[in-house]
Amino acid sequence: MVFYYVTNNFMKIAFFSTKPYDKLFFEQENSAYGFQFNFFETHLGPHIVNAIEDEKVVCAFVNDKLNRQVIEVLAQKGVELIALRCAGFNNVDLEAAKEFGIQVCRVPAYSPEAVAEHTMAMLLTLNRKTHKAYNRVREQNFALNGLLGFNLHQKKIGIIGTGKIGKAFIKIALGFGAEIIAYDLYPDQQLTTQGVNYKSLDELFKESDIISLHCPLTSENHYLINSESLGKMKDGVTIINTSRGNLINTQDVIKALKERKIGLLGIDVYEQEEKLFFKDLSTTIIEDETIQLLMSYPNVLVTAHQAFFTTEALTEISQRTLRSISDLSTKGITDAEVML
Ligand code: NAI
Repeated sequence: MVFYYVTNNFMKIAFFSTKPYDKLFFEQENSAYGFQFNFFETHLGPHIVNAIEDEKVVCAFVNDKLNRQVIEVLAQKGVELIALRCAGFNNVDLEAAKEFGIQVCRVPAYSPEAVAEHTMAMLLTLNRKTHKAYNRVREQNFALNGLLGFNLHQKKIGIIGTGKIGKAFIKIALGFGAEIIAYDLYPDQQLTTQGVNYKSLDELFKESDIISLHCPLTSENHYLINSESLGKMKDGVTIINTSRGNLINTQDVIKALKERKIGLLGIDVYEQEEKLFFKDLSTTIIEDETIQLLMSYPNVLVTAHQAFFTTEALTEISQRTLRSISDLSTKGITDAEVML
């Protein structure tokens, strides 16, 4: 389906899961386009989809549920485009979108460095315990007991997924003098010239001191980190996941933490994050006991899907999303379309 709009002024866009910073960055960029925005704070799902009136575009984020049921209603309402303001698209039923004639575009790359730098921040925080040191010294406790870390220099870091973010993280890790082992369905030969060693997944599990996930979530790698793969890893392994929550079987990981198999765990994504992340729940009782348990462990760091959250990334996201919408509406084509 191709848009039939001549100017952007008539184009209405419904935003879901909107936060104040989304409004700020998108409104700034909209001066170049003149689209009409309708912001919804709630996430997109069956409960709200009927609120759409005459918007032709739905702008969604990582935890908006674009399943068949929602997409069918969107099509009935005349929506022609789902513009994802994120890179991953595992939350969209692409078959259904195709069937109902709705195009899907995303932001294929926005500051991979933002995610890579947060990955290193998580690793350093967990390892060097700066979050604990910060609290300690504020209480005039200058003791070092319990703050012991290890050098990243000469440690083996296993990278699963060597795309844009994986590469940016490899560059940072090489700067620390770490040894990089990698696994990807499509190894990048250029990385091998920089000293990256591609190995099988089993070898990576077996040899890595630290494992960092940078692959997309697909039906093939759902629960990639589970009891079986954990069993192949070194005792005390560090695992960092800034990719997607469902790459990790959380129950298996909790068991491995209890058994001291996992030494440190950093997660910026969580399999049930849509009920929690991006919300201030500080005055409510959280019913998700799994995340409560994880957060209670001293060697686990949870951040709420904030790896992307830099000024540079938000600028690129809003610029790229609006450009794709404009390209699709005026030329019928964008290089950010997600194809089946
Ligand atoms: P990319 O598409 O540039 O790279 C992904 C790489 O993973 C590719 O090289 C691909 O061949 C590889 N891959 C695909 N399936 C694989 C598998 N089963 N096993 C191993 N490798 C596999 O993607 P990019 O930009 O590097 O992003 C990676 C992921 O990071 C995204 O899919 C998204 O889930 C996550 N992400 C997280 C953010 C956050 O704020 N926490 C923000 C942006 C992305």
